[in-house]
Amino acid sequence: MSDIALAVIGGTGLYQLADLQDIETHQPTTRYGAPSGPVRLGTLDGHRVAFLARHGEGHSLPPHQINYRANLAALQALGARRVLALNTVGGITERFGPRVLACPDQLIDYTWGRVSTLCEEPGSEVLHVDFGEPYTRSLRSEVVAAAGQAGVALVDGGCYGATQGPRLETRAEIARLRRDGCDLVGMTGMPEAGLARELGLDYACLAIVANWAAGAGPDPDEVITLQDVLDHVAAASSGLPALLRAL
Ligand code: HPA
Repeated sequence: MSDIALAVIGGTGLYQLADLQDIETHQPTTRYGAPSGPVRLGTLDGHRVAFLARHGEGHSLPPHQINYRANLAALQALGARRVLALNTVGGITERFGPRVLACPDQLIDYTWGRVSTLCEEPGSEVLHVDFGEPYTRSLRSEVVAAAGQAGVALVDGGCYGATQGPRLETRAEIARLRRDGCDLVGMTGMPEAGLARELGLDYACLAIVANWAAGAGPDPDEVITLQDVLDHVAAASSGLPALLRAL
């Protein structure tokens, strides 16, 4: 088993890790099935870093069909202990406009019908893991510090609302999420974070705001297009290599 300093799971618009050197490709299988695609294991400034594209490298998997268990188990089997999840999201509250990077500290799960625990396997122990603080505090602190060191603007904190997708939300749904206390909305934050906790992995989310969520921006009639999402993700991701190096 190799010693991996960090595993990175890439979301929409993030299908590879710039600057990863000497890449080995692994095609692992796990007791939960196959992950979304190959795990690319390489070095970044002398540290071993693993990368997996959550939706597959050709973005072929919708959020509810991602095998989150297999993705995390595959990274863990390769030796990962710490996982940084890159999640493309919509912004709901004022501080989270397009192109903002954020490291949320809370989440609310609105997803349904996804396998959200490891406990379903026959013979597995029933776990009731503590999830009051859904992201690992030490890893979050390191992400925030790395952003500071790299000179990359990052909002520290915020609540991520995980919706089912693949469609975007209605304005009424976003208004409800806002009332619930969500700052960000995305489709892949859960069950990933909960499964990471069950697996004993350190896990933090680096959210990349691609758009104002429905009705949340200055133009309430704005139509969200995939091209806008991808353009904003590309622009917001420019600081990521420096942040990851610092991390
Ligand atoms: N809603 C849900 N998921 C998203 C959004 C959104 O507005 N933008 C990017 N991912």
